[in-house]
Amino acid sequence: TPHFPRRDGVLHAEGIALGELASRFGTPCYVYSRAAFSEHFLAYEQALEGCPHLVCYALKANSNLAVIDLLARLGAGFDIVSLGELERVVAAGGDPAKVVFSGVAKRDDEMARALELGIKCFNVESLPELERLNACAARLGLRAPVSLRVNPDVDAGTHPYISTGLKDNKFGIAIGDAPAIYARAQALDHLEVVGVDCHIGSQLTELAPFMDALERLITLVERLAADGIRLRHLDLGGGLGVDYNGETPPSPAHYICALRERLARSALTRELELIFEPGRSIAANAGVLLTRVEFLKPAETKHFAIIDAGMNDLIRPALYQAWMRIERVDQRDDGVARTRAAYDIVGPVCESGDFLGKQRELELAAGDLLAVGSAGAYAFTMASNYNTRARPAEVMVDDDQAFLVREREPLAQLWAGERRLP
Ligand code: LLP
Repeated sequence: TPHFPRRDGVLHAEGIALGELASRFGTPCYVYSRAAFSEHFLAYEQALEGCPHLVCYALKANSNLAVIDLLARLGAGFDIVSLGELERVVAAGGDPAKVVFSGVAKRDDEMARALELGIKCFNVESLPELERLNACAARLGLRAPVSLRVNPDVDAGTHPYISTGLKDNKFGIAIGDAPAIYARAQALDHLEVVGVDCHIGSQLTELAPFMDALERLITLVERLAADGIRLRHLDLGGGLGVDYNGETPPSPAHYICALRERLARSALTRELELIFEPGRSIAANAGVLLTRVEFLKPAETKHFAIIDAGMNDLIRPALYQAWMRIERVDQRDDGVARTRAAYDIVGPVCESGDFLGKQRELELAAGDLLAVGSAGAYAFTMASNYNTRARPAEVMVDDDQAFLVREREPLAQLWAGERRLP
């Protein structure tokens, strides 16, 4: 990728050789490119020029404060799903007025804090949530801006764990039930109906499911207008896929151009503010995971390369059978004898599911540094402390400078909240 170029056989992050970062910060270590984050975000901004819009970066993809900060400075809003994510936005200097709050299980205290901070919109996913939000706003003497997350029942054609727009999953309100629930929302004193939203899944590589969802949302917007409910915004969620292994998803420009063309066809939809909640398409290809080969272990029918990163650091391969690119960082001829084989790249965690890649044709020796590609999204944010392993350091590269944006967890911190019995 352009921000992680190979120069003279050596993989870099922008202007810095990855080997240098490994010596400076240790491994495993996440390395991000500031320019990549910026460009991926600005691709949305540019495609939306001339149209009222807000690009709300989905924090769940990568919520490091440095990432929030850099996107906030470019004008981003944020899509959050918890009080923790909201407090991260505040801590990083983001603007709560540009926050949309998604998620199926918002608690009272989460709603209250978001109301106090004056967020842009609550994406409400059920009738009981709507009632809870109204009661919460009433207690505070406020009105909550709401959008209903509808479930347009389209098949996003992606992995079942990350497909969210079909009628038999927990997300959203069935589109057929939406008019009645909008009427209820309109009738509640402490709610202000402002929009509609949907999110049909993640890692979509085709335009068609997005356009199908849009069509159904437009029908709903028209129906609501006929019922006297005028919406101000249309939030199409996130979901645009990225290139992990040669996929060719539509670019933000292509996607948004198609949407704008369709929306321009009616006076009602032309006026709507457009909101997006992209996560992966901004973050995934803005990061890599650096890891070192500890041992090579030939088995009867396999070659294992045992590395110092495991499923606790990067769970996507174990959880979704996700394929992530794995390359040797330094491919210069250094005289070291290497073994060429189809390696299973496995971690230190005591689980057979602990792998980052299988059957990878590589030429390796113990001590080699590897880079796992597209590791800027759903990577560090899904890391855990399983096996009492400290989570990796995170480093942001900006041209020829590198900033430690999260230190490797000190071990004692892992049990700092625990107590021995009296
Ligand atoms: N909005 C909502 C309401 C969402 O649920 C999500 C992602 C997004 C926006 C951002 O979607 P994106 O643009 O990133 O596709 N851990 C999985 C992905 C889970 C996505 C969950 N929701 C993975 O590693 O593939």
